[in-house]
Amino acid sequence: ANGKLWGGRFSNQSAAWIDEFGASITFDQEMAHEDLEGSIAHAQMLQKTGIIPVEDAAKIIAGLHDIQTDLHENKIEFKASLEDIHMNIETILTKKIGPVAGKLHTARSRNDQVATDLHLYLKNRLPEVIAVIHDLQVALVKKASANIETIMPGYTHLQHAQPISYAHYLLAYYEMLQRDIERFNFNIKHTDINPLGAAALAGTTFPIDRTYTTDLLNFDTLYSNSLDAVSDRDFVLEFLSNASILMVHLSRFCEEIILWCSYEFGYLELDDSYSTGSSIMPQKKNPDMAELIRGKSGRVFGHLQSLLTTMKGLPLAYNKDMQEDKEGVFDTVKTLIPSIKIFTGMIETLKIRQDKMLHATERDFSNATEFADYLASKGMPFRQAHGIVGELVLEGIETNKTLQEIPFEKLKQISPLIERDIYDKLTSKQAVARRNSFGGTGFEQVKKQVTLAAEKLNLT
Ligand code: ARG
Repeated sequence: ANGKLWGGRFSNQSAAWIDEFGASITFDQEMAHEDLEGSIAHAQMLQKTGIIPVEDAAKIIAGLHDIQTDLHENKIEFKASLEDIHMNIETILTKKIGPVAGKLHTARSRNDQVATDLHLYLKNRLPEVIAVIHDLQVALVKKASANIETIMPGYTHLQHAQPISYAHYLLAYYEMLQRDIERFNFNIKHTDINPLGAAALAGTTFPIDRTYTTDLLNFDTLYSNSLDAVSDRDFVLEFLSNASILMVHLSRFCEEIILWCSYEFGYLELDDSYSTGSSIMPQKKNPDMAELIRGKSGRVFGHLQSLLTTMKGLPLAYNKDMQEDKEGVFDTVKTLIPSIKIFTGMIETLKIRQDKMLHATERDFSNATEFADYLASKGMPFRQAHGIVGELVLEGIETNKTLQEIPFEKLKQISPLIERDIYDKLTSKQAVARRNSFGGTGFEQVKKQVTLAAEKLNLT
């Protein structure tokens, strides 16, 4: 024996640095609470089924409760020589209650144990992820409600396309976040499954009661196949994938904030509390938080890529490679939640330069579609209208005149269909207001969507 919990068939020791390479305790101690929770449920099940004597189970359970208290009071010291959280806790338990602690691992393996821990860990955190996304949605809808008539240039290819309502822009992100929430809710479904009792891979000869541990751990249901139970990490991949998609959303939004806070755009100003200065340039106000959230998307994508790669060639069932599943998840949780929270604060305190936004739509030909639509609505084929307006734009660019500055007589020559009401239709305000198709940027549509969103968020 080599002194390890599993050391019976070993005669030689590995060097400490090799043990360290194989150990996961430096990071899996993050799941210490979940590991204790899982062990307590397992011990209760062993007790109820009579697999171990009632008094022994009682000692084990009391010892585990004791460790829970020590953990809360920060009195526990983990050791790399004990490899992982499971064997650290078993060793601590043995020190507390003696060899009877060894009965805890009856009808269990570290393979179903670690899977249980990870399921519990994620199950415990997903509601918080969803709650912070919800708070961000609230911030967006409040801002949107105050900015229904705030007009900004809408872009495609980052070129001025058509004027839109700033609230409409904000609500686009509200919708993305709604899908994020739905994805995380679905993720809960696949996380809320109990693998405990799968044992190493094949189930166990003991008359265990898996439904009982499922109830005790408050899992929604249990795995039906023991091989799947210990080798499934889909729920983690789903989490990393959902987190990546969410970070894509935040990152795109951050990019716009960063761009729009620049001197050239000047549409937005971040609150001082979400900005930083320069150590050399006294005038600087940098959107560091927005940049950092955009930057942190990279590490979350990395964790997804990393686990996909780890999992893709693994034969069933457990392989030690799977120990690599944890750090990425922990780091993603620790990146995602603060990113969303900081982003929310940034939005709540964001100043919107309505004049700048509006001004950007006033000399830019982003009303060219209105002009073409105007002619088309009077019976001219849209293609022909498009051509005519295109020529006017070209001339306007050359003579530095906007469409609304072209004298009426000139317009009349171009087409007798044009009346004086064209000038009103060419204003940005009308251009936005009249896009009243369902889901469009028209003020009425946007107002409706703000109301619907506010209702969904219980803001009314
Ligand atoms: N520390 C391991 C992990 O994180 C626990 C499971 C180990 N099981 C085993 N048979 N080596 O995956």
